[in-house]
Amino acid sequence: MTRSTRRRVETRETQAREKAVTEEVVESFDFAESDRFREVMQSLVRHLHSFARDVRLSQEEWSAAVDFLTRTGQISDDRRQEFILLSDVLGLSMLTVGINAPAVEGATESTVFGPFFVEDAPRIELGGDLAQGAKGVPCYVSGQVRAVDGTPLAGVRVDAWEADEDGLYDTQYEGKVTAGRGWLLTDDDGGYRFWSVTPTAYPIPHDGPVGELMKAAGRGPMRPAHLHFKVEAPGFEPLITHVFVAGDEYLDQDAVFGVKESLIGHFVEHDGGTAPDGSQPTGRWTQVEFDLVLAREEP
Ligand code: BEZ
Ligand code: FE
Repeated sequence: MTRSTRRRVETRETQAREKAVTEEVVESFDFAESDRFREVMQSLVRHLHSFARDVRLSQEEWSAAVDFLTRTGQISDDRRQEFILLSDVLGLSMLTVGINAPAVEGATESTVFGPFFVEDAPRIELGGDLAQGAKGVPCYVSGQVRAVDGTPLAGVRVDAWEADEDGLYDTQYEGKVTAGRGWLLTDDDGGYRFWSVTPTAYPIPHDGPVGELMKAAGRGPMRPAHLHFKVEAPGFEPLITHVFVAGDEYLDQDAVFGVKESLIGHFVEHDGGTAPDGSQPTGRWTQVEFDLVLAREEP
């Protein structure tokens, strides 16, 4: 047998051995109780094995991946979600958002949830101050929550959260401080309004494993300026979205691929004068109107 014939035979044998491993693992899920669990796991195994074959994964690369995932877990806690961040920078979060988006014309589009939402944000009154000490140029945010057919949705909970002018969320401050987040209930016309700070662009946390990955890829960590919303109303699909600031220099290079044209809002700049709530701010402030249009739940 010549060397090249032997290599071809070895290759055929190697391929058969590799295929057998994959099939054995796939079959090990055959008797899973849940059909969905079986479907997801068997597909995951097939894709994972196919990826390893595709790149001819070396032992060192396998170890580096295990080390990377171990450190991703170790740096995570109840205030830092490195796995969500990893999903975000790999575009998996936005892909999942897209797969699950209600196909309803006229509904506000969704975008990434991100790692900075907290469950126990404070309730604020309509027109109240969501900044709660977060630094930044004051911003008056208002809009209407309604159904796609135009019906205003009263008494609906709207959560909002954002970074301060230094690009930090309160969960990144020293100590347990709450600022730049809160929730309120819409009025009889579905209206919501609050004061907060004008969003600024900021880097996603890049001092951990995800930062290393971004650096190795030669990718920047910046997100364009935005304010987060989460809206939940009975009978409607939950909405998780942002309003982005028109003109931001990072709109076309968001580190987590979250920008959609329809979510870009115009933050009108003012200096003094009278705000929509009749107050008379001294100095600079901005104002944005952003309606939140919900899709009805599928029956
Ligand atoms: C955020 O907008 O809060 C965010 C989203 C994804 C990754 C990091 C931060
Ligand atoms: Fe954010």
